[in-house]
Amino acid sequence: MTQKYLPLKDHDTPVKVLFTGYLCAVGIGYFFALLQILFTHGMADGKFGLSIDDIVYSYYGNRSGTVLETQLNGAMKDNASEEQRFKIIQWVRDGAELEDYKSKGIDSIIEERCVMCHNAQAPANTPDFTQFENLKKLSTQDTGATFSSLTRVSHVHLFGISFIFMFVGLIFSFSETTSTRYKCIAIGMPYIFLVTDILSWWLTKVHPMFAWLIILAGMGMGISFIFMWVISLLEMWAYQQIFIENGGVYGQKLKALYAATITPERRAWLLSMLSLVREKAHEQWLNTIIPFLKKLLNNIKRSE
Ligand code: HEC
Repeated sequence: MTQKYLPLKDHDTPVKVLFTGYLCAVGIGYFFALLQILFTHGMADGKFGLSIDDIVYSYYGNRSGTVLETQLNGAMKDNASEEQRFKIIQWVRDGAELEDYKSKGIDSIIEERCVMCHNAQAPANTPDFTQFENLKKLSTQDTGATFSSLTRVSHVHLFGISFIFMFVGLIFSFSETTSTRYKCIAIGMPYIFLVTDILSWWLTKVHPMFAWLIILAGMGMGISFIFMWVISLLEMWAYQQIFIENGGVYGQKLKALYAATITPERRAWLLSMLSLVREKAHEQWLNTIIPFLKKLLNNIKRSE
């Protein structure tokens, strides 16, 4: 049979170095992208970590409140004290009038706490609060991402990410340990997920029900990326050890070490400890945390 392509392991070392450099750089890029998501969307509901609520707040908005309120209880929470945030929110709820802005001292809070980032030099997504109108605009109902920001991010993502998957997919297409069928799936899937992802932003903007689709698409993209990334690097640099010798000397050593450390008895003990911890946590959740949250909620209701 004539060879249709040069397998990854048989490429010249300089080409392998090139491929590896690219894969490592985009791998680190992916990591930073995830961090960025965690810090922008992750804080949207005021709690660290990504949840469906974060996605809904980011795209559909928190329609029971205003943009300023959502942000002050979410991503901007740490930028002002409890009292200052409360004052701003009261002012917004009272109609965000210019007179009150001065007389209630909101101007000095904004000056002290927000203007260092929200000024004329800031990028487009960080409104300039030295202009009162910009603040006023954000005291209307929070409907999430604006159409103009969605349009901007959509095209940037479509162009940028399809380039990343172009090269990751091209490198992976020279692999030989995955069947043609699975290669097609791994290479094609990111594009389907990419389009789904962008489409689901727009859908979520219209209805919060679609937030789960964003998470699903993001995970699908991540899984195909990791799969192609790992297989490509292994075939280039550890083909013999991994695919022929089944892990090689180190693999065998690692397996032996695992078998020696995690004996069946220790494994059983570990599992029993785990279930004990889980039981205790569940107990604490029911007996301590839930009552505490209920009390907190009641206090908040009463103080309103
Ligand atoms: C450390 C810098 C920094 C400080 C301090 C800061 N912000 Fe922000 N703020 C940002 C950035 C950056 C964004 C854009 C976030 C994004 O969308 O990625 C933003 C976004 C916002 C938005 C959303 C704007 C929109 O169009 O959706 C609001 C509202 C906001 N900030 C309010 C405040 C208020 C009120 C304060 C003061 C209590 C404050 N911020 C202090 C950096 C800051």
